[in-house]
Amino acid sequence: MEVQPLAGKRALVTGAGRGMGRVIAQRLAADGAYVIVHYASSNAGAVETVQLIEAAGGQAKALQADISRRSDVVGLFEAIDREPGGLDIVVNSSGVSGGGSLVTLEDEQLEWMLGINLKGPLYVASEAAKRLGEGGRLINIGSTLAEFPMGGSGIYSATKAALKSFTESWAKELGKQGVTVNTVIPGATSPGMAERTPEPYRSFYEQASPFQRIGRAEEVAAVVAFLASPQASWVSGAHIMANGAANA
Ligand SMILES: NC(=O)c1ccc[n+]([C@@H]2O[C@H](COP(=O)([O-])OP(=O)(O)OC[C@H]3O[C@@H](n4cnc5c(N)ncnc54)[C@H](OP(=O)(O)O)[C@@H]3O)[C@@H](O)[C@H]2O)c1
Repeated sequence: MEVQPLAGKRALVTGAGRGMGRVIAQRLAADGAYVIVHYASSNAGAVETVQLIEAAGGQAKALQADISRRSDVVGLFEAIDREPGGLDIVVNSSGVSGGGSLVTLEDEQLEWMLGINLKGPLYVASEAAKRLGEGGRLINIGSTLAEFPMGGSGIYSATKAALKSFTESWAKELGKQGVTVNTVIPGATSPGMAERTPEPYRSFYEQASPFQRIGRAEEVAAVVAFLASPQASWVSGAHIMANGAANA
């Protein structure tokens, strides 16, 4: 008999209209969860994610929000509240990357990245904290660029390092209501940002792992699925790297 560890659970995955978020949503749905497929601009992508989940026998629904806007996030959770069944699992997967030197620092790029990578997960966690109860799960998607910052990655690396502090703080705060909070830290992974990484960086990331390749989103989603499962009830405040031992 097929075991579905998340049967009866309801999950929100941000940024699930494409990239890694889509694959995480598909995995949680395959494990039995009803999945809210959040998107910001990828409407068609989110519809496709829902279709892929339903074609595989799962259940999902797409909802839109710009997570850098608090009012959007409040609206997203209010829409979730109108669905029967509550919320058990929240995955903060939305995120944007981009480089830039100190001398060309632009306010617009700074605000964009802080809005989506820092304020967004915070707004989502704030609404999630009002709803998640015993057995709840909050999972933040970090990046190895917080562990191994590169020249020019400063803002992105700092937002992802901040997520680790959020995780440790939120784990203490939400543990009191039976909720675990963890970070999954992918290295370069496809589909997602890494598939758009130009040469020579793509080869650099492949060579950085002893496996001589970049990661597959399914491999990251497997770690998320474990943390979302009842099996991970005593794992909280942890940061789990899923990067094939790459040193970049
Ligand atoms: N792939 C990698 O190599 C890699 C490595 C390390 C960490 N990560 C992290 O993994 C997560 C997923 O990345 P990915 O590779 O799947 O990236 P991606 O393919 O570039 O997707 C970015 C996601 O962020 C969402 N997003 C952008 N602006 C948003 C906004 N204003 N509000 C809400 N969501 C917004 C996008 O939604 P729309 O398309 O709907 O706008 C999209 O789903 C990110 O947190 C990223 O930092 C990725």
